[in-house]
Amino acid sequence: MASIDSIRREYERYPPNGLRRFTRWFTKRIPTRLYARALLIIIIPMVLLQSVIAFVFMERHWQTVTQRLSMAVTRDIAATIDLINTFPDKTAQDEMIRIARERLDLSVAIEPAGDLPPPRPKPFFSILDQTLSEEITRQIRLPFWIDTVGNSNIVEIRIKLENSILRVFAKRSQAYASNTHIFLLWMVGTSLVLLVIAILFLRGQIRPILHLTQAAESFGKGQRMPDDFRPRGADEVRRAGVAFIKMRERIERQIEQRTAMLSGVSHDLRTILTRFRLQLALVSDGPELDALNKDIDDMQSMLDSYLSFARGEAEEDVGVMSLKTTVEKVAADGRLRGANVSVTVEGDDDINVRPNAFDRLLTNLVSNACRHADEVTIHAQNRGKWLTIAIDDDGPGIPEDAREDVFRPFYRLDEARNQDETGSGLGLAIVRDIARSHGGDVTLSDSAMGGLRAQVRLPV
Ligand SMILES: Nc1ncnc2c1ncn2[C@@H]1O[C@H](COP(=O)(O)OP(=O)(O)OP(=O)(O)O)[C@@H](O)[C@H]1O
Ligand SMILES: [Mg+2]
Repeated sequence: MASIDSIRREYERYPPNGLRRFTRWFTKRIPTRLYARALLIIIIPMVLLQSVIAFVFMERHWQTVTQRLSMAVTRDIAATIDLINTFPDKTAQDEMIRIARERLDLSVAIEPAGDLPPPRPKPFFSILDQTLSEEITRQIRLPFWIDTVGNSNIVEIRIKLENSILRVFAKRSQAYASNTHIFLLWMVGTSLVLLVIAILFLRGQIRPILHLTQAAESFGKGQRMPDDFRPRGADEVRRAGVAFIKMRERIERQIEQRTAMLSGVSHDLRTILTRFRLQLALVSDGPELDALNKDIDDMQSMLDSYLSFARGEAEEDVGVMSLKTTVEKVAADGRLRGANVSVTVEGDDDINVRPNAFDRLLTNLVSNACRHADEVTIHAQNRGKWLTIAIDDDGPGIPEDAREDVFRPFYRLDEARNQDETGSGLGLAIVRDIARSHGGDVTLSDSAMGGLRAQVRLPV
């Protein structure tokens, strides 16, 4: 909650300018996962680079080669026309047609004079049509007609001579750099191979980060770390993994130390209390000592509950429990105390929690409610990533300014209210401890039923 508030405050302090707005717009649209982002970092430059290369290649190389080829074909045709004009007799022309076919790979026919057919519509994008027309205009300077589209492998050129029409068929590949697509295929092919390699490599790099995330998440929820967790991957990730393991060990050591100290203190105090009680019994046995004995009893039960808590909490492992069964059992205990307890459970029934600790958490909250109220409802919901349990009652509630204090160990409101003298004031402290050790928390608020609402939220 605090973090959302602080973000909002930050936002209000610096209203968004153009750049900031663009950054926000941009970050909202790009994928959030590291894997996808890393892939984009590889793919975008690759596509850009290839587009530039392809463009420059088309522009320069392809056009130049086509132009040279067209120029050569046109030159051959121009030479043929020259020869036809120079040797007009039939046999010489037949010989020329043969030479053109065998040596120049052009199939030439001389047809009687006539009109050229109307020009064909120009294809939308044809570098061949364009360059060939330019070359013929430049080198031959006679009326002509060309067809580069009709038959895909052959280009037809008709040229109007003085008293005949020259009809030439050339192979398309003679005039056109036609295998450019092979270059593009190679380019796309290699980049696909590169992409596959990149994906494999990225997976290997990202998996250790995912493992670390999982380990940190389950530790945060108080669960055991996955057994196979070992720092792996790139140096930085490995260092983060090692740092995480060290931190976890330090925290565990600290908890152990705290638990050991608390149980030591409780144990020592209990010994003294026992001695105290014995001495009291020896001194005398009058009614004036009753109050004193009662105090000793209270202290002893306080110490007992703390000792069992300190012991139990440290050792228990997470297990799978049925939410409905647990809640029903706690509700049944509450009914024995004379309250009217109703229960609703929604969502997935299996929960991963420390069984005894979770049971104690629920029992503490429900027994509090049953002690102070007659009507109690328990509403448990296990949806998405959170398990939420709300316990409402119609009792006196807790004033708002005391809602933080009641979580302190040994803090009770009942003394002031003078109601019920059992209880050590540890209940809510333990509840909060258990909730937090599962990675969640507990909050108190006003209930719609008139009393207190205690709400527990645990990540599952
Ligand atoms: N549902 C409730 N309605 C009203 N007051 C409550 C409720 N739950 C807790 N309180 C108040 O908060 C105080 C602290 O509760 P907590 O459970 O920590 O201690 P306790 O119930 O007095 O003792 P213990 O739970 O250890 O037997 C209680 O003394 C009680 O006054
Ligand atoms: Mg209590």
